[in-house]
Amino acid sequence: MNISEKIRKLKQETDTIILAHYYVDGEVQKIADFVGDSFALAKTAANTTQKNILFAGVSFMGESAKLLNPTKHVYMADETAGCPMADMITAEQVKEVRRQNPNAAVVCYVNSSAEVKAESDVCVTSSNAVKVVKKMEQKQIYFIPDSHLAHFVAKQVPEKEFIYHSGYCPTHKSIERKYLLEAKEKYPNVPILAHPECAEDVLDLADFVGSTMEIIHYAKDNAAKEYIIATETGVFHQLEKENPDKKFYPVIPSQVCPDMKKVTLEKITYVLENMGTGRCPEVLLDEQVMERAKRPLKQMLQLAL
Ligand code: 13P
Ligand code: SF4
Repeated sequence: MNISEKIRKLKQETDTIILAHYYVDGEVQKIADFVGDSFALAKTAANTTQKNILFAGVSFMGESAKLLNPTKHVYMADETAGCPMADMITAEQVKEVRRQNPNAAVVCYVNSSAEVKAESDVCVTSSNAVKVVKKMEQKQIYFIPDSHLAHFVAKQVPEKEFIYHSGYCPTHKSIERKYLLEAKEKYPNVPILAHPECAEDVLDLADFVGSTMEIIHYAKDNAAKEYIIATETGVFHQLEKENPDKKFYPVIPSQVCPDMKKVTLEKITYVLENMGTGRCPEVLLDEQVMERAKRPLKQMLQLAL
């Protein structure tokens, strides 16, 4: 039995669903029960009926799954896989800005800790942020932690006043405008599909801006045979699988998230073999934090409809 067959067998024996983000390795995406962007993963986690959820992604995704479906046992394939952007803001910082701007709505990108979510009014993902912000009754929006996504949303919702935080995704920040201009020269007239975590001067050059899932749908639904992709290279697995006749080019070879790449088939096997023994810790959150952090996530699920 090879490792993928072993994982499939263990999944059934342990009543586990494996949820994977598009940025993990293609080999891992292949054995997952569901692969999606952050919003689709949150919705799937909320409706999961299996006893255990094994997350092939980073820690905020596992925490969101636990918040949305608290009776399930949630495990991370690698518990050290985090998101540097999520670590760029603390609950204390949010409280301080709230004190100074009591009328602002705190809009929190899901790439954040449960403690930060607990201080927020609503969560968003890259696929629903514009929609959700438009529906907020407050005029002032304190958008945390991603400044790039915040500026992208602000441009499309000019009726709101934004307060920005300084967070960013190091992987998307590394896709600089000068590299994209080089790629454009190498592949003239090839459409550019970019993630809104990229800097504003990169998004200005893009033909389409969207979440990972939206980028994948765009490439499938459009006639062009080649695309320049400005997001993490994990999406190439799905892009190439769904479009064997099309070509996809990264802007730079290093547009890779090191934390997402910590997830391997071996680690998934280990977790499936050791669930419930204490050798692979579950995602567990403080009860009070949970109570407060699930509100903005549930609010997102309602407003994003
Ligand atoms: P989406 O899949 O929601 O576009 O998120 C991208 C991301 O950076 C997740 O960490
Ligand atoms: Fe965080 Fe960026 Fe990695 Fe996503 S790609 S997990 S935002 S560091």
